[in-house]
Amino acid sequence: MIRRCLRYSKYRYTALFSLVTCTLFLLMYTSFSNVLRHLSYGRFYVYSDYDEQTLVDESDLVESKRQQPQIILPNIQLLKEDYFNLSHLTCKNPKLDIDSPDIWKYLQPVKGDLECEKTHNWVYIENGTFRLSQQALHKHGPIVCAYRPILRGKDDFSTVEGQRLFPVVDKMPLVSDFFRADCRARDGSIYSNIHSGIQFDAGLHMRHIWNPMVKTHLGYNVLMFGFDSISRMTFMRLLPKTYSYLIQQLGAVVMKGYNIVGDGTPAALLPILTSQTEMELPESRRGHEGAQTVDRYPWIWNKFKDNGYVTQWGEDGQSVGTFQMRLLGFRDPPVDHYMRPFFLVAESMRTTKPYCFGSVSRHQNMLNWMREFFEMYPIQPKFSFLFHSQYSHDTNNRLPYADRELHDFLVHMNTKGYLDNTMLIIMTDHGARYSQLRKSYQGKLEERLPFMSIRMPPIFHKRYPHLIRNLRLNSHRLTTPFDIHETFLNLFNFQDDSDYRPKSNRSYSLFHPIPDNRTCESAAVESHWCACLQWTPIVDYQTRPLIQKISQAVVDYLNSYLSDVRNECAQLKLFQVHKAQELAANDMMLKFVKSIDKDGRVPGFNPQSNITVEKQVRKDQRMPLYQLQLETIPGHGQFEITVGHDVLQETFDIQKRRLSRINKYGRDSECIARKRPEFREICYCDKFVTNKKRISV
Ligand SMILES: *[C@@H]1O[C@H](CO)[C@@H](O)[C@H](O)[C@H]1NC(C)=O
Ligand SMILES: *[C@@H]1O[C@H](CO)[C@@H](O)[C@H](O)[C@H]1NC(C)=O
Ligand SMILES: *[C@@H]1O[C@H](CO)[C@@H](O)[C@H](O)[C@H]1NC(C)=O
Ligand SMILES: *[C@@H]1O[C@H](CO)[C@@H](O)[C@H](O)[C@H]1NC(C)=O
Ligand SMILES: *[C@@H]1O[C@H](CO)[C@@H](O)[C@H](O)[C@H]1NC(C)=O
Repeated sequence: MIRRCLRYSKYRYTALFSLVTCTLFLLMYTSFSNVLRHLSYGRFYVYSDYDEQTLVDESDLVESKRQQPQIILPNIQLLKEDYFNLSHLTCKNPKLDIDSPDIWKYLQPVKGDLECEKTHNWVYIENGTFRLSQQALHKHGPIVCAYRPILRGKDDFSTVEGQRLFPVVDKMPLVSDFFRADCRARDGSIYSNIHSGIQFDAGLHMRHIWNPMVKTHLGYNVLMFGFDSISRMTFMRLLPKTYSYLIQQLGAVVMKGYNIVGDGTPAALLPILTSQTEMELPESRRGHEGAQTVDRYPWIWNKFKDNGYVTQWGEDGQSVGTFQMRLLGFRDPPVDHYMRPFFLVAESMRTTKPYCFGSVSRHQNMLNWMREFFEMYPIQPKFSFLFHSQYSHDTNNRLPYADRELHDFLVHMNTKGYLDNTMLIIMTDHGARYSQLRKSYQGKLEERLPFMSIRMPPIFHKRYPHLIRNLRLNSHRLTTPFDIHETFLNLFNFQDDSDYRPKSNRSYSLFHPIPDNRTCESAAVESHWCACLQWTPIVDYQTRPLIQKISQAVVDYLNSYLSDVRNECAQLKLFQVHKAQELAANDMMLKFVKSIDKDGRVPGFNPQSNITVEKQVRKDQRMPLYQLQLETIPGHGQFEITVGHDVLQETFDIQKRRLSRINKYGRDSECIARKRPEFREICYCDKFVTNKKRISV
């Protein structure tokens, strides 16, 4: 009965009325209280703005202010570098230079906006209905259109055309998500284009009632948008408006230690969406024995569906589809709103403007489709993930076209309240992989460090300030795509305070502190992908001029530090350097050239590679760090210190808090011990010097 009711209404636009009747009818079948419970997952939360101070990472803010100076977030509390305890971390993130000439050499970003057709599209979509633009109607007189549904064929590689509808009128409900419109106006002009929207589906509107969420679920929507082949640094370089909006107005957290776990897009997305690597998942590679479609993978969107969510996934670049190029793709549509058929048609059409659908850019079209999705299901829980590659796949140069559109989209979603109960993830899969870039040190690191930002709604900040603190803390620690999956699982099993126990030994929920001793090994990141820096001994430290310069600078620093107690403490001189190390990437990463199989599973290293040579490329580091153990006289005090070398300014960054005395100083500094205890570990009392001299003479 219910099914017949739905079927009756599905393809008849005149039947909107009966849909409403169906809806009411179905509602009666569910308990009122159940409905109420689920309404509360919608966007009608009542909350007052941030009561808590908003935590903002000073380093993010500094980066974001380079191009967009204003800060609008109310009541911010800046988290300074000390908060993150960086020196305690086993995995240290490289500090990368946004102006690095090694990268800019290969980057010629477009200037200005993308130019699509000047005449506005006649057709647009408004919450699941077909609309004719008023502008076109005024200009051309009455318009009649034919509507040809674009439907998925038997698999991911074919489409079919649905029954042609003619004529269609303004405000007709869509009968498919995708369609071709061919229109003619009274004045003889014609219009032809393809469009995407969200078709009304009564069953999906009800899913959260039939499949209620587990009680421990937080109930937020998930909205993800990603770009292909863009590093974290290039995201900041080429999307400054979007980046500063995320940081300064949405308070998003950027995961600065987010490290790839394999080569290419599938290796970046599969761990997020399935918690596993391609090798751990059932064989799905084209041409391999026993290979089957990827339907069997444990997709996270299935879990969302089982918990009442409506789901959406799509990407452009269908010919290099993430799950269709090397893999066999899906037999059945994996999500409720699946964009692939649309792009199959779009990318097979001949066009002079390959970045546009008429007057609308293809990128904007994707954003519109997500907005449509949120409009169609205002109160239903939603999972949406769209991935864009057209601007950045072959070169990164066109990415600036996306900046204003993505910024405006986020502003719109925020203004409409859609972000009030949504976990927003703006991300990229990996940095650029062009062989030229891969040759430079910075290029290698950037490939391994994509952009991953997470923005939780204000209500979450308010209710769980401690979890936001954890997320902030983790933003400087080593994190991986596996952690994003684990964080989704945490949403399903959310308990306020109690610790969440990860389902896997290689991942953590980002809402809980990641141990500061996490290493690539414990996070299942193979060493040639690992961007963590580690202390590496400098073998020729006794002859390297730089090390001598640094040690002298350290001694000068110690002496100037003692200037207040000049009369009591002896002038120090360098006696010997005992050990020197530099913070550097691991050798496997330096030697890695590219994967040598087409599945990206077998790493290829440069056989001639000679580490000394590879290390030369490190000169492009902004502030390489050195750690020295040295001894001074008189008094033979031994110190360990970490020093930054500013290569451009030719200066050293030496700070007391990075200095420690490593042998006993006993009574050496007794002359000032009471008066100025802060000098005890450095001062050698002058009076002992004269004594010693007398003895030794
Ligand atoms: C920083 O490290 C110190 C020493 O290990 C520890 O006591 C402190 O709690 C840490 N702070 C944070 C925020 O983790
Ligand atoms: C869009 O249409 C759906 C289905 O008719 C309706 O439930 C929803 O409230 C509409 N959304 C907006 C924003 O009007
Ligand atoms: C990190 O420290 C914890 C507790 O001290 C220890 O159990 C764990 O093995 C360490 N992990 C690594 C990767 O060193
Ligand atoms: C994690 O568990 C797997 C088996 O489930 C095991 O093979 C692996 O060694 C474990 N890794 C770590 C770092 O404990
Ligand atoms: C590595 O390269 C350096 C500089 O070209 C050279 O002096 C050194 O002998 C080479 N070492 C090896 C092991 O090939």
